[in-house]
Amino acid sequence: MKYIGLFLLLILSTVFAGNAENGKKIYDQWCAQCHGYEGEGNGYAADFSFPKPRDFTVGVYKFKSTVSGMPPLDEDLIRSIREGMHWTTMPGWKRFSDKEVEDLIAYLKTFSEDVFEDMEDIEKVEITTVPKCDEGKVKLGKDLYHGEAKCIDCHGHAGRGDGEKIWEPKFKDDWGNKIYPANHTHPWEFRRGTDLKDIYTVITGGIDGTPMTSYIDSLSDEQRWAIACYVQTLFLKRKTGPSIRFVKVDALPEDPNDPFWDTVDYLDLPMGGQVTLEKRQFTPVLTNVRIRGVYTQDKVAFLLEWSDRKLNKGDDGLPPDVLYLKFPQKLVDGPEKPHFIIGDRKRAMYLWRWSVAEEGAKELIAKGPDRIKEQEKSDVEVFYHYKDGLYRVMFIRKLSTGDKEDPEFTVGKFIPFSVSVFDGQEGETEPVTGAVSAWYYFILEPPTPLKVYVLPPAVFLVSLGIGIFLHRKLREQL
Ligand code: HEC
Ligand code: HEC
Repeated sequence: MKYIGLFLLLILSTVFAGNAENGKKIYDQWCAQCHGYEGEGNGYAADFSFPKPRDFTVGVYKFKSTVSGMPPLDEDLIRSIREGMHWTTMPGWKRFSDKEVEDLIAYLKTFSEDVFEDMEDIEKVEITTVPKCDEGKVKLGKDLYHGEAKCIDCHGHAGRGDGEKIWEPKFKDDWGNKIYPANHTHPWEFRRGTDLKDIYTVITGGIDGTPMTSYIDSLSDEQRWAIACYVQTLFLKRKTGPSIRFVKVDALPEDPNDPFWDTVDYLDLPMGGQVTLEKRQFTPVLTNVRIRGVYTQDKVAFLLEWSDRKLNKGDDGLPPDVLYLKFPQKLVDGPEKPHFIIGDRKRAMYLWRWSVAEEGAKELIAKGPDRIKEQEKSDVEVFYHYKDGLYRVMFIRKLSTGDKEDPEFTVGKFIPFSVSVFDGQEGETEPVTGAVSAWYYFILEPPTPLKVYVLPPAVFLVSLGIGIFLHRKLREQL
């Protein structure tokens, strides 16, 4: 009987601890191209990756629920593998069974066996209760973030990851690679997570292998929760969708900082790399451009805002920061549009080019990366502002310029637009090596037509019903 019990235990332990041999098979097929066959983080795809894939031979893991310097628990590794690392090339892996993930973990551990040898004395970041954030906590958190805890040294005054310390030559991760502090206004880039507990865990345990150290000894528990509360208040509320409305106003805002802009509806454009045209950009660091606009009797104004850790004028060996706002040159009804990156031979793109290194904006006609023509006279005015890691660029143009080459912006029509942005600090260069958005639409909304006010009550009730239904659906999805 005793032996049968032992035998069962043996079988169970191999089932539950994961089978490293099977893990190796899965790893070599799915993970090695980035993490390397020997686990050194140097697979062939590593060159295109920022941040770099983890080197497992060192045994240092970033995202975990244990205190600084301790190895991760299996549950941490499961989470990293299943959910992936947002904003990096590390995908979330849903295709494997739970057993396969365990096998993978057993194999990962063989790259740095000694680190995982003694798992008895592991200290976790203890969370007993998650407090509720209120004004008092946010205020305390803000004071600490800017004061005693010095988060701003790295994360910047407005939390955009642009603190002064990050430009010191020694600001690297333990593997000697470039690293940037998280942009706290961009929750979609967080890799540990955006729940209060996740932020608290990062503050408490730090991120091993990076300059983000642990605050377990220097701040009280209450202080760490308060900072986590404050960090959450910095999150941008991203609004995505296919289109944006521009309303009619009597006079355009005066400049990019006119407080009037804050009252105008906006649309966030997720930015991605492009891998179709040379030179490619796989992992741009600029991940979002926010756009809004208004128009008058004869002019339209666009405001574009994005986070960029440094203003690059192009005078330090790196290219300058540049933005393109792009439209099809011919506005036709129907889905036909030029290629979204920089137009194509058949369909030309009409674009506004702003560079922080030059006065004014240029009007260009592009039919592909090597067929770009600058118009002699520009009809576009531009104003910009940069502070605390945020660019604001405002363009103004007449609805109709009188130039045959320029599309006319007609009230009441959905007009396609797309954006490219080039970050000089990352060596990104025009016309294609940068971050690019898909096509979206703006519409110059006709001033409220009278019929909205005389909608029959039945129609009103039906649309209210649809509204509630949609709202519920959306909430279910969240
Ligand atoms: C396309 C490239 C790519 C592939 C394929 C890939 N990874 Fe990763 N992985 C990364 C990158 C990049 C990081 C580092 C992210 C960071 O530093 O934030 C990473 C990080 C990790 C981490 C570290 C988490 C931590 O806390 O430090 C684990 C674990 C991991 N990957 C497991 C895997 C496994 C298992 C597979 C295969 C099933 C895999 N990865 C496939 C790119 C990849
Ligand atoms: C010495 C520089 C430095 C200081 C000081 C610093 N951080 Fe960080 N922080 C970093 C770096 C670097 C990263 C990014 C690590 C990475 O990408 O792997 C980071 C990442 C983070 C993240 C993102 C975690 C995720 O899920 O991706 C949070 C949240 C954070 N820090 C909060 C704070 C707070 C709050 C403070 C002050 C209490 C602080 N940091 C102080 C350098 C710093």
